[in-house]
Amino acid sequence: MKKRKIIKMVLYGVVFALVAIQFVPVDRSVPEVDPNSDFLVAFEAPGSIKTLMQTACYDCHSYQSKYPWYAYVAPVSIWVQDHIDDGRKHLNFSKWASYDAERRDHKLEELVEEVGEGHMPLDSYLRAHPEARITDAQRKELTDWFELIR
Ligand code: HEC
Repeated sequence: MKKRKIIKMVLYGVVFALVAIQFVPVDRSVPEVDPNSDFLVAFEAPGSIKTLMQTACYDCHSYQSKYPWYAYVAPVSIWVQDHIDDGRKHLNFSKWASYDAERRDHKLEELVEEVGEGHMPLDSYLRAHPEARITDAQRKELTDWFELIR
């Protein structure tokens, strides 16, 4: 087979795979939850904390995820949903009221740690969401407030 023909076939293969992968189902559905179960509502978070967390954390750690357009295009869509599912599994602010006392204590401890040490928001997220980047002062504001409600 000629080299050009092989290249052409590989290209057709890639295009076919990209089209086919769009049919892989991605489940973005969320269950109905009581708005009062929300972490920010439960602790009557001040406005600045609310804005910070909704901008920097809620896409992955709540049922209020906002999806950018590219989150609907596979394979990115699959990867994004995987991150959201993983984030919610570890900590879902929309379901805060359903956590028992022990779990809440542990999560509050984790919040101080993860945010204090700069692990959250995730780096991979910040590259696509520069608006979610938090300053050192904002990081301190968050951890101070987490300590306060602990
Ligand atoms: C891009 C999605 C994403 C964003 C945005 C994000 N997280 Fe996370 N978070 C995760 C994932 C995934 C994990 C679990 C894996 C890990 O620890 O890396 C996690 C773990 C955590 C944990 C540990 C929970 C546990 O019990 O293991 C805490 C606490 C946390 N995040 C808080 C936050 C806070 C607060 C913000 C906002 C300032 C935030 N995260 C932003 C995805 C995210």
